[in-house]
Amino acid sequence: MTIRYDNRVAIVTGAGGGLGRAYALELAKRGAKVVVNDLGGTRDGSGSSLDAAQQVVDEITAAGGEAIANGASVTDAAAVEKMVALVKERWGRIDILINNAGILRDRTFVKMSLDDFRTVIDVHLMGSVICTKAVWETMREQAYGRVLMTTSSTGLYGNFGQANYGAAKLGLVGLMKTLTLEGAKYNVKVNTVAPVAATRMTEDLMPPEMLAKMGPETVVPAALYLVSEDAPANAIVNAGAGGFERSYVTLTRGIHVGADEMTPETIAARWDEISDRTGEIVPDTGAAQGAMALGGMR
Ligand code: NAI
Repeated sequence: MTIRYDNRVAIVTGAGGGLGRAYALELAKRGAKVVVNDLGGTRDGSGSSLDAAQQVVDEITAAGGEAIANGASVTDAAAVEKMVALVKERWGRIDILINNAGILRDRTFVKMSLDDFRTVIDVHLMGSVICTKAVWETMREQAYGRVLMTTSSTGLYGNFGQANYGAAKLGLVGLMKTLTLEGAKYNVKVNTVAPVAATRMTEDLMPPEMLAKMGPETVVPAALYLVSEDAPANAIVNAGAGGFERSYVTLTRGIHVGADEMTPETIAARWDEISDRTGEIVPDTGAAQGAMALGGMR
């Protein structure tokens, strides 16, 4: 069955280039009306221009699709609210939000300024919070919403020189997990994609032979599925170069001890048992994990 987005309205942030552009083009091709949002700055977040977003809109309209360009910075709550109001005025609803906008300010932690740390958190984490908050009530009222966060292998597993980016990116996974619980009753599903793709963000980080195999279109299938009618919820999907995997935050069975054994020496002595991954699980909620800590499920 072909997955379509007819009558759906989608906002894709940072869609002037790279992955966001690829998502916007494919959503429009499959029937969605698309808001191509992009601040149009450089890779480190300086400057702005509507040109890139407008170019993507032109491509979409030339192919017979419907799209509008928007230059709001995802960090500017008032501008994002204005964008949402305009979209609702024009198309009446908002079904899909892909939080994709992002910047890099890489340096080792010892050399990283607090300003570079905050700016990266602001764009990735707070930008996604601001955009999601701006559409959340609408999605609840419609009893339909699909929100996609964008994490990274750096957030999930770490990468030298990207402490700010990694912190922001794993924050988005935490955001997804709670929004999944709060959105469930309203058919608002939140998921996360962890892409790897050749874009201006990665163009100087990998050899050309590798980059050639990982165009943005190799991430599109995962992103589009995660914002489709039959999307799952609470999933972290890694995608790129033809690979599709899932990441989980797991919990080992661990140990459960009485008061007399609650010492650092017990932890040292039983470290292997605590770390043993046999039978590890993925709790549905923080509360479920808390219940396990009380020994209820061990
Ligand atoms: P990109 O640099 O081509 O795209 C990011 C876009 O976001 C740019 O067009 C930029 O103008 C826009 N943007 C930046 N700040 C903005 C703001 N404040 N408001 C609105 N738009 C803004 O890079 P790429 O690779 O397409 O990145 C897309 C997302 O995927 C990012 O969140 C990135 O962190 C993530 N990602 C990419 C990976 C890759 O391998 N390319 C790996 C892991 C994550």
